[in-house]
Amino acid sequence: MTNLKIQGKKRVTGNIKVPGDKSISHRAAILGAISRGETRIKHFLEGDDTVRTLKAFEECKVQWRRDGEFIVIEGRGRDGIKEPLLPIDLGNSGTGMRLLAGLFSGLDLFVILTGDDSLRSRPMGRVNEPLRKMGAKIDGREKGNYAPLAIRGTQLTGIRHPMPVASAQIKSALLLAGLWARGETWVKEPGPARNHTEIMIERFGAKLKREGDGWIGINGGEGENLKGCEVSVPGDISSAAFFIVAALISPIGELTVRDVGVNRTRTGILDILKEMGAKIELRNESQAGGEPQADMVVKSGRLKGCEVRGEKVVRAIDEFPVLTVAAAYADGDTAISDASELRVKESDRIASMAMELKKMSVAIEEKPDGMIIHGGKPLRGAVVNSHGDHRVAMALAVAALGAEGETLIQDTECITTSFPGFEKLLGEATVP
Ligand code: S3P
Repeated sequence: MTNLKIQGKKRVTGNIKVPGDKSISHRAAILGAISRGETRIKHFLEGDDTVRTLKAFEECKVQWRRDGEFIVIEGRGRDGIKEPLLPIDLGNSGTGMRLLAGLFSGLDLFVILTGDDSLRSRPMGRVNEPLRKMGAKIDGREKGNYAPLAIRGTQLTGIRHPMPVASAQIKSALLLAGLWARGETWVKEPGPARNHTEIMIERFGAKLKREGDGWIGINGGEGENLKGCEVSVPGDISSAAFFIVAALISPIGELTVRDVGVNRTRTGILDILKEMGAKIELRNESQAGGEPQADMVVKSGRLKGCEVRGEKVVRAIDEFPVLTVAAAYADGDTAISDASELRVKESDRIASMAMELKKMSVAIEEKPDGMIIHGGKPLRGAVVNSHGDHRVAMALAVAALGAEGETLIQDTECITTSFPGFEKLLGEATVP
């Protein structure tokens, strides 16, 4: 088991760049594999989750290689995807499993998708049920709700699906299934889930349709219009968030994180932190792979508690572990609600963060759909555990930086899921 030891009371400063966005890297790999022609992806996240998506296609005989700073995929369209000989292991990746379940349901192949203990305990019914309505032959443990999933790909028929939860993974699974379905496939989201699939599908040359009230649709056969292209992946705001919060709670610090994705469906964390009093400025705004990006300049300073609920929750869904850390250092109470989705992430992030921050002397109350953090009291170093969850591990590392004494975070191998090089970068950005 790998552990991470962190000495507290560190100052965070410097000018850094974080690895490429995980969600966008997955989509670039998938669209590259099913398009015709060469796709060149710059700043692809070579984390465990996204490399598994590339390897999944390698099992299906799609060729890819590294070429300097690019990942190059030789797509041969839908017919270039061959039946894999073995089950595909997607490790820890919910995005990989749900998006590929959608895609493979409509291809003429038999595929088994599996993953690690965490992934095999995450709900898959939310994608499998609408896919079955499209005619998908998909099954799994407990009536198809849990992986391993067995998929006998077939000709699908478009449906109209109002999603019960605002989930980019369900939306993306259905749009990918709709690429070659009969008729039109429509999904409606109740909130602003990340729109990277839509941006990427259109960048690769297929068209989407939009109706009022959040409906997004695709005509079956649009898959034939997909052509390989060059994509540059912006830095992952979900990874930048750890350094942003580390700088904010640092005693005197200024940090710049360069080229971070600032798609509005992802910037909830900036809005929440600003509401807490954070000084974060965006500079040098530009575009990467059809997505907006910017440099973020963060200055340390006192934060105050706030209320987090509603639409903001979806736009910051992956940042809650580190947000609870910001709240622990903020003066007053932070009340998080409408966030029960956190219970079905890589770990139950409400339970994991509450349990571990308590060990560091934080007063925190768990609620079914969130928590209340009574912030502003000193944190004490402790022995804590990641629960095998990359974002819990990194959030605890940030908590440890501002704490008294030393913290030992157990089981930190999972960090490579989304942020290879985290420990090194943290070392570079911190001074005693
Ligand atoms: C993701 C969507 C979100 C997010 C996950 C990545 C994606 O999940 O939490 O880390 O890349 O589509 P849900 O779709 O389940 O909300």
